[in-house]
Amino acid sequence: MAPALSHSSLCVLFITPEVHPLNKTGGLGDVSAALPVALRELKVDVRLLIPGYPQVLSGLKHKRKIAEFTAQAPFPSSTLLSARLPSGGSASVPVFVLDCPTLYQREGGSYTDAAGHDWPDNALRFGLLSKIGAILASDASPLSWHPHIAHCNDWQSGLVPAYLHFYQGKKAASLMTIHNLAFQGVFPADTVVQLGLPAASFNINGAEYYGGMSFLKAGLYYSDHIATVSPSYAREIQTAPLGFGMQGLLATRREDISGIANGIDTLEWDPATDPALVRNYTASTLAAKAANKQALQQLFGLVVDPGIPLFGLISRLTHQKGCDLLLQVAAQLTEMPAQLAVLGSGEAVLQQQLLAMAKSHSGKIAVRIGFDERLSHLIEAGADSFLMPSRFEPCGLNQMYSQRYGTPPLVHATGGLIDTVVDCTSATLADGSASGFLFLDMTPAGLLGAIRRVTLAYNNKSVWRRLKKNGMAKDFSWRSSAAGYRKIYLSLLS
Ligand code: ADP
Ligand code: GLC
Repeated sequence: MAPALSHSSLCVLFITPEVHPLNKTGGLGDVSAALPVALRELKVDVRLLIPGYPQVLSGLKHKRKIAEFTAQAPFPSSTLLSARLPSGGSASVPVFVLDCPTLYQREGGSYTDAAGHDWPDNALRFGLLSKIGAILASDASPLSWHPHIAHCNDWQSGLVPAYLHFYQGKKAASLMTIHNLAFQGVFPADTVVQLGLPAASFNINGAEYYGGMSFLKAGLYYSDHIATVSPSYAREIQTAPLGFGMQGLLATRREDISGIANGIDTLEWDPATDPALVRNYTASTLAAKAANKQALQQLFGLVVDPGIPLFGLISRLTHQKGCDLLLQVAAQLTEMPAQLAVLGSGEAVLQQQLLAMAKSHSGKIAVRIGFDERLSHLIEAGADSFLMPSRFEPCGLNQMYSQRYGTPPLVHATGGLIDTVVDCTSATLADGSASGFLFLDMTPAGLLGAIRRVTLAYNNKSVWRRLKKNGMAKDFSWRSSAAGYRKIYLSLLS
């Protein structure tokens, strides 16, 4: 199956449930768009496999039907389409779309219905994605392109390594990247057999997870190698509580785990050219950043004042992100002086609470509920500082966007936030590395103390200027991380 490997022919099937700009719900969408581009620049022939959601089918031009898969219980029949991702120009990434209207073409989200409830047939939806991923990564594939590696991302592709493990023919090696261990794809025990895996795989050494089965556990158990999205998170997940029940398995596989920090798309997130900004700027034209702050204050109905530090926050509204802490510090925050602009969507209760908080502090705190890509860029540029009080954060992307936009982030010291933000101290200011603020104590007092540190620094013009410039000078491109993934791929072949 796979051709003899030369440096120009390392082939990788990148299996993912989301990709920007077609169907992004969070950072995985950004990573699935940008990492493959960087890998292709390193001459890795990486191609995506994604489900044919309505936005995917309507967002891709020039689709060609290249294979058909007949129904095989419990999976309905499906078709494989070939296209190229809309971004990236002539370097755009080839993508295989798994078109199965019964499973993917419906109103609602990629994983949930319009009311936010998981689709009841998610095991089947992502079982099929995994099954077809495994077929394409084996000598049972109907295609002439044969990958050396099946690179799986999160639980939705977690059964690929399991299907490959039990397949007797020639097959690719598998790499499982954990973007978030909190999402585990847990289903009833009999799902294992329903989806065509041997009953024996329902085992503590296999897909079994506290009496049910877990797509992610299967991926972690059967994959040839495991990666996660920052070195700190790679350590954190090997113990409780951030191992979320998988710490035992992960600790036994510690030699097979690599922590590679995500990069960012430096073309899409560039304050010098970003079309969503009111005025573009660079590190040497930082004064122009102020126009974005003014626009943001106006848009959000905040008091328009260039002198008040404005905090921005963009987030999925879940327990992970710690936005509930804001509710407890809102009153003190608005006494400071300080302002807050929030963009988020997620848990209904949190949405309501944040809206109520904004109502009680109008002019000082404003909240937009929804998912708005363009507005997220303006917040990165218009805010003075960016808040990420995440309880845990495998990597996080916004803190990197913030530094690139001269908007020093304030982050909880966890996971990838530790690896990508340098706390502002006299030592780090002196050596030119300070780029933001970290706080250890995940309590309202801890957050408030950190907010005070930011406002103090903000009022020291020279310190604030250095922080912004240090962050803007950092290299957050995918170059070195993509090289890290390429190294893993090559090690799996040898
Ligand atoms: P996670 O993947 O856990 O949500 P990341 O920091 O890795 O966290 O990535 C989140 C991505 O989703 C960022 O690109 C962020 O700007 C974007 N995002 C999150 N919520 C929204 C929203 N409501 N509107 C627009 N973009 C959002
Ligand atoms: C997840 C994590 C986030 C990470 C993203 C992309 O959603 O929560 O920290 O940056 O995946 O890897």
